[in-house]
Amino acid sequence: MDEIRFPAGFLWGASTSAYQIEGGNTHADWWAWERDRRVAEPSARAADSWNRWRDDLDLAASLGLSVYRISVEWSRVEPEPGRFDEAAVGRYAEILAGIRERGMQSMVVLWHFTNPGWLVESRQPWHEDCSPEAFEHYVRRIVPALAPYVDWWATLNEANTYVDHGWMRGDWPPGRSGDWAGAMRAYEYLARGHRRAYAAIRELAGPDARVGLTHVMPWAHAAAGASAALTAPHRAFFHWEAAGFFLGKVRDELDWLGVQYYYDTPMDLRSQVDGDGDVPRTDLDWRIYPEGLYGVVREAWKRYRVPILVTENGLADAADAQRGRFIIDHLAWLARAIDEGADVRGYLHWSLIDNFEWAYGFTPRFGLAEVDYETFSRTPRQSAAIYARIARENGIAAGLGEDLRYANGAGPLGPR
Ligand code: BGC
Repeated sequence: MDEIRFPAGFLWGASTSAYQIEGGNTHADWWAWERDRRVAEPSARAADSWNRWRDDLDLAASLGLSVYRISVEWSRVEPEPGRFDEAAVGRYAEILAGIRERGMQSMVVLWHFTNPGWLVESRQPWHEDCSPEAFEHYVRRIVPALAPYVDWWATLNEANTYVDHGWMRGDWPPGRSGDWAGAMRAYEYLARGHRRAYAAIRELAGPDARVGLTHVMPWAHAAAGASAALTAPHRAFFHWEAAGFFLGKVRDELDWLGVQYYYDTPMDLRSQVDGDGDVPRTDLDWRIYPEGLYGVVREAWKRYRVPILVTENGLADAADAQRGRFIIDHLAWLARAIDEGADVRGYLHWSLIDNFEWAYGFTPRFGLAEVDYETFSRTPRQSAAIYARIARENGIAAGLGEDLRYANGAGPLGPR
């Protein structure tokens, strides 16, 4: 592969979320869900980042990253309705300041799947105005303390994943399955929450504040042997239902969009064809299809016309056997989308460190660094060095990782 360059000032980063790394978030709805044994194992101390956040920041800085993403755990800063824990708010301000002190930009997500237990005790979350109202109240309360240290604000992470698991599959709280009406209703109230938070942040942090949200984007394409033309309506509906429906509700309140991409969805005339072709797979058996990142970024740019950051992309790979190849191939496709005109400002890998992967527990290993859950030490994996080199050089050197292969023997899957 020839050398690939990224635009000057392109941001290189890594993402995390509060509940998945902090540990001890006892006031969240997820904590109760875990107590009811609805998960492989409980989050417990997670990666203990509530205490070891300096280690995380030092690690990100040591990789030469220029942006680091955290989230704020709502139930930690507002454990009871209207009662705010000042020390917790102060800790988040300290973490965000620490990111800046280490020469990185900071990105903060204000809601990443978890709700305070009190919000959901007597009602369905995000099904009535009380949820967006309470969300705005929380946002207004913390923004003044955090604003001096925040470069990128995101209100909600992956409303679509939350609704899919919470109302359609039933494996996340509130545990409903096949509930289409409930899902549509949750989307509506999440969108209201976003709009309220967007206005509040702009008001309190000033007109220069950059406020967006992060969303996982599916990439449906015709399966081998299926016609692109004939599958087009089915694919368009899938894209709309999985991402466009919600984004359409919030598109007028987006200064930037966080695009997140993990795997593709091949389709024939009838359905999704997960077994299409001999693609490499992650430890979670997710398909690895780097071209999909090009597809979703182009589509997002064409549709929404706001600056984009890829805010999550990564894989479960405990042996770190595929991560280097995965990163290079996805970035090569991303560079092509940029060359063709998409306004992409940065790429943040998911994740900086291993973490609590929701219903799966701790088995999937998404980290650039491995976490030892006995000692809580963080050890960068081999692939972290590859990523650090790309970040340092703001590009992919000719021939970098040429010898790296996927577990199924496949070589590079970048653009030819
Ligand atoms: C979520 C993360 C999650 C990752 C990998 C994204 O959907 O935002 O919380 O860990 O995917 O599954």
